[in-house]
Amino acid sequence: MVSGIQIQEGPTKIIVPEDHSAGGPGKINGSVFFNEQMAFNRDISVMFLRAFDSEMTVCDAMTATGSRAVRIANEAPKTTVTANDISAYAMPYIEENIRINNLRNCTASNRNLHSLLAENVFHYIDIDPFGSPMPFLHSAIIGCRRNGYLAITATDTAPLAGAHRDKCERRYQCRPLRGPMCHEAGLRILIGSIAREAAKFDKGIEPMLSFSSDHYFRTFVHMRDGAGHADKALDQLIYVAYDPETLERSYSSEPDKEHVHGPFWGGRLFDREHLGKMDPSGTAAERRCTKMMDYWKNEIDDIPLMYEISEISSFVKMTTPPFDKFIERMNQYGRTSKTHISPTGFKTELTLKEIISVYKEVSGEMR
Ligand SMILES: C[S@@+](CC[C@H](N)C(=O)[O-])C[C@H]1O[C@@H](n2cnc3c(N)ncnc32)[C@H](O)[C@@H]1O
Repeated sequence: MVSGIQIQEGPTKIIVPEDHSAGGPGKINGSVFFNEQMAFNRDISVMFLRAFDSEMTVCDAMTATGSRAVRIANEAPKTTVTANDISAYAMPYIEENIRINNLRNCTASNRNLHSLLAENVFHYIDIDPFGSPMPFLHSAIIGCRRNGYLAITATDTAPLAGAHRDKCERRYQCRPLRGPMCHEAGLRILIGSIAREAAKFDKGIEPMLSFSSDHYFRTFVHMRDGAGHADKALDQLIYVAYDPETLERSYSSEPDKEHVHGPFWGGRLFDREHLGKMDPSGTAAERRCTKMMDYWKNEIDDIPLMYEISEISSFVKMTTPPFDKFIERMNQYGRTSKTHISPTGFKTELTLKEIISVYKEVSGEMR
């Protein structure tokens, strides 16, 4: 018998250590990690995988209690899941969680993921470490079947969002950005780093779903085999110049004296066709999933980088107009959307000069 408490996530039962994390980045309180707040994150994996018509082999390479693995096996029935963790303490939890959900399509594995993925290939591999996923990326790419999928989480949000530049440069060989767009920039550093690592193996990536949430960044990418795909992905890397005094952002495909931040992924974050097949019904955090799906489906993802309405307010020094009204008016002049990254953030094809002009127009009407 394993010591712990039984919780319910969606239709799946999970035994977890009694002393587990309820939110934030989480930490190991006992010997095995579990974070309740990540139920939403696990929901997204379930929705992502059950949107495929084909049978898929799945490796949850760092599964801890097996929570994500058993949820996938139980809620995405066309999957065959390997629930792996290096920790021997995790095994009783994984085995018990497979047993209490009567799963025949899930197997416990107690391996170092580097050797597991050197010897086995899977259609889908999930990497969910403490901190940066970079030390595990090479193995994940090797263990991914031809044209398979990787799901990568990074919880080292402070370096990625520019709070610790040196650490970001060491881990990701990328100079981060500080400013209102720093979370989108962090997400784009993560994706760009996956593209650069994959290119070493003549593989390209196509992001299918990428988001910033709570204390982490996460992306699901489709791996595309072939040097042509690798080159195409590398062509989407960008370098950024940002002036906090003028709010001006500009982009270049090469680094130069001004464009010193990067490289960032400058391409799309979502695959709308796949998003259209993802169904939140029956997930643990169904309302949150539905709300986020709505954001992702409508978010402009082919234009970096977002603005915050507060930065325009401080710059223009005029009353902030109601956000919805501002977005609606912006859309009369050019493609504009909200972003899941911040409730007061927006993406637009308009230039800064045009944004300021629309802002003044809407704000002026409020007097
Ligand atoms: C953040 S926890 C994973 C949480 C889990 N995915 C969940 O949703 O609850 C990271 C896990 O990675 C495991 N781990 C660390 N290095 C590993 C390696 N080289 N191979 C396999 N597992 C590893 C740790 O034992 C730990 O359980």
